[in-house]
Amino acid sequence: MSCSLRPVERAHRARLETLVRDTGLFREAEVRTAVELLDEALDGDDDYRFLGAFDGDELAGFACYGPTPVANGTFDLYWIAVDRKRQGSGIGTQLVTAVEAALAAAGGRLIVVETSSRAEYDPTRKFYEAKGYTTIALIPGYYAPGDDLVIYLKDLTRWR
Ligand SMILES: CC(C)(COP(=O)(O)OP(=O)(O)OC[C@H]1O[C@@H](n2cnc3c(N)ncnc32)[C@H](O)[C@@H]1OP(=O)(O)O)[C@@H](O)C(=O)NCCC(=O)NCCS
Repeated sequence: MSCSLRPVERAHRARLETLVRDTGLFREAEVRTAVELLDEALDGDDDYRFLGAFDGDELAGFACYGPTPVANGTFDLYWIAVDRKRQGSGIGTQLVTAVEAALAAAGGRLIVVETSSRAEYDPTRKFYEAKGYTTIALIPGYYAPGDDLVIYLKDLTRWR
């Protein structure tokens, strides 16, 4: 399925919140954080950029990314989420590819992604690995006992 990609606007705020919650993967505090980051982006904070994937007028997925504070040419991919019903149909790929292209065109070097080692995140980690992201660090017990922080990296300079 091919979506049109454009920035997420205020009109999509409630839909974004529902989409994140309905993935079933995120705690309520994380859902609130996603919406707060969107609010900051809509208020003009360039540290958080939201790219939406739309099926007609409906938000089907989004990515949130931004420059890593104090680094040069390094960006964090903070969130990527696709509507549960539409997962596995290429929307995540469309989003990550567009984010990488935008960052590469702007001179970005590195994209860093943080995720969890929990079993619920197995598909998420498989997704990043399928998209060329490499595990570069792991902090055992970071989120909770037995729940490690896994850090992925994509070096955009190697794909130019
Ligand atoms: C992770 C996520 C963003 C991927 O988006 P998607 O639209 O489902 O992914 P795509 O259909 O583009 O799949 C891309 C690749 O990932 C792999 N992949 C995706 N879902 C997978 C799954 N459940 N199991 C195994 N591999 C999977 C596929 O092999 C595919 O590889 P290919 O391009 O070589 O065929 C989406 O599934 C999602 O929103 N998950 C819940 C939220 C989440 O985990 N967000 C990331 C943490 S912030």
